[in-house]
Amino acid sequence: MRDKPHITLVVGARPNFMKVASLISSISARDEPPFRFTLVHTGQHYDPELSQVFFEELGLPEPDVNFGVGSGSHARQTAEIMSAFEDFLTTTPTDCVVVVGDVNSTLACTLVAAKSCIPVAHVEAGLESGDRAMPEEINRLATDAIATYLFCTSDIAVDNLRRRGQEEDKIFLVGNTMIDTLIQNLPRTKKPHFWEEKDLSPGSFIVCTLHRPSNVDSPEVLNGILNHIADKTRGPVILPVHPRTSPKLDQQTRDRKNLILVDPLGYLEFLHLVKQARYVITDSGGIQEETTYLGTPCLTLRNNTERPETVLFGTNELVRNTPEAITSALQRVENGHWKKGTIPPLWDGQAGTRIIDILSGLLADNFKN
Ligand code: UD1
Repeated sequence: MRDKPHITLVVGARPNFMKVASLISSISARDEPPFRFTLVHTGQHYDPELSQVFFEELGLPEPDVNFGVGSGSHARQTAEIMSAFEDFLTTTPTDCVVVVGDVNSTLACTLVAAKSCIPVAHVEAGLESGDRAMPEEINRLATDAIATYLFCTSDIAVDNLRRRGQEEDKIFLVGNTMIDTLIQNLPRTKKPHFWEEKDLSPGSFIVCTLHRPSNVDSPEVLNGILNHIADKTRGPVILPVHPRTSPKLDQQTRDRKNLILVDPLGYLEFLHLVKQARYVITDSGGIQEETTYLGTPCLTLRNNTERPETVLFGTNELVRNTPEAITSALQRVENGHWKKGTIPPLWDGQAGTRIIDILSGLLADNFKN
């Protein structure tokens, strides 16, 4: 006889960990947690610096199970996660599967849960870039289409869901769990290990991260962008190199004096850099949100964004990855001509609490029936 509802939280890749950390801390903060939870790691990311370090720094519990699926083509990786998750659900009674973000693990587990008639809650629902060449766009649209509860970070996401015909009573505007975790950890950020060696000080450097296929899969495009950035910026550019990016970097780029190539950083070190950087150049989704909250100018090397509130309200601007567009944006930011930005509504550190409140009401109703 089960005494309360049981939820399964799914993580797979780096950006998932910060979002689920907010949910777990909101559950654990209750004197009487409204449900029991199991934490599933699909193993989509497996290198310690893309996974383990986040568990340690964010105080996440060890996953109850890790499928260890590893890398592979989209179809293979998604299929392996689906098979493993189907087996898992047959042995673990679950009243709701909670997925976050837009990675392959998000979609894979949503498909399995929906076909097993288990409600799915999607945290970060309604995002949409309009670019179906991005694998994440397919993951977002397909997940939203079959999830049961849709938790949104902004009015724009809510409007996207309405436009797609989603019923009002499934949609909840709650704020941003990524920002919850940022707010919680800002007092704990730490200087990266190379801070003194590289003679860094607040405002003396730039941070750059690139890992989207459109920027990094072609060596010509990637090395072209980085050499252009190296030519046009003052001060060193810190470049934590994603494993997808590393094999495409040529020796000339690696040898550029003002590019400092480092391994992927943990959360607390990376946050320290983003907070203290003069500006950030990126193609990440989450970093567009973090820079908006911190007020750090952000040049996003993409033609579109699924997070338009970071452009409307925040410090983010979309910059095409052509030499002309990058030069023009760098000139403006280097000369201090960049918008100040404000923080979007409800990005106040309480999104996880709102989600757990809403979910506990919904699941308590289902559990009684
Ligand atoms: C994935 C997500 C992307 C997210 C990114 C964050 C999808 C479709 N993509 O992209 O949305 O922004 O994570 O990092 O879910 N690799 C390692 N170690 C690892 C994981 C991957 O070396 O722990 C290598 C793989 O072998 C592969 C490359 O990195 O060569 C890319 O990994 P992959 O899982 O395909 O996607 P990401 O680019 O990391």
